Amino acid sequence: MEVDDKPSAKGSGSAATDKFKSERVSADTSKERASAVYQDLLSAVGEVVKKHEVTYDEYDVVKQWVIDVGEGGEWPLWLDVFIEHYVEEVNYNRHGFSGTKGSIEGPYYVPEAPKLPSVTKMPMREKDLSAKQLVFSGQVTDLEGKGLSGAHVEMWSNDAEGYYSQFAPGIPEWNLRGTIVADDNGGFSITTLLPVPYRIPHDGPTGAFIESYGGHPWRPAHLHLLVSHPQHNGIITQLYFNEGEYLGNDVASAVKPELVLDPKEGDDGLQYVTYNFSLDPKPE
Ligand code: DHB
Ligand code: FE
Repeated sequence: MEVDDKPSAKGSGSAATDKFKSERVSADTSKERASAVYQDLLSAVGEVVKKHEVTYDEYDVVKQWVIDVGEGGEWPLWLDVFIEHYVEEVNYNRHGFSGTKGSIEGPYYVPEAPKLPSVTKMPMREKDLSAKQLVFSGQVTDLEGKGLSGAHVEMWSNDAEGYYSQFAPGIPEWNLRGTIVADDNGGFSITTLLPVPYRIPHDGPTGAFIESYGGHPWRPAHLHLLVSHPQHNGIITQLYFNEGEYLGNDVASAVKPELVLDPKEGDDGLQYVTYNFSLDPKPE
């Protein structure tokens, strides 16, 4: 992936766009369904225009901004921050799932991160150790609590400066990324960095958008996870931290109370926490 030499929204944004474009996307949406969705979408937009009596100047600013987001490669970023949480919620509820709650994927997942054993330390650099370390242990089970042998726990997180490997320059390819293979009982113990609050890239048009309404670009500290097992429904989720800021006003609206951890400091100065994942059966 091409990225500029200094971390920036432009770099992270265009890297996220390149990654997205390399995936094939399609949906088996019928013309009838497309018609229903588009009519509702356009009339919802129309209602907003009428309600707020949007001016021609405002309309032109929107047009320019839409052009800027595209040219800046920030559509994956903007959509994942402001829209994905609705899509995630509707698709979790659609199947009546009762296992671990999902959360948004965001733009920075990379498949096929190198496999790591069930007791492991995430790949990190010497300089990453300026952050506190977290020992995150748990078990992947089915809904009845039976351990799922060899489940995969894919984890990716930002470094203490707020950057994700492969989307910002100068970071080793798989830094803070890995596919942890759980033991015969679904167990795992992962040593990683205790994440810090994170600002989505805000030096481009997404930042201008947030600025325009007096918002902030912060997400609470989080770990990204994709937990899967061949016979079960894989779940994309995030875990958050009790004491952190922005839990109540995440720019991406992706926090759920079930996903908030409360780590405790051990005698050795490391933070410790346990969290178990339960996977639903695959939907019909
Ligand atoms: C974005 C970045 C994240 O790390 C995340 O968790 C969600 C969204 C973003 O920049 O769009
Ligand atoms: Fe993130």
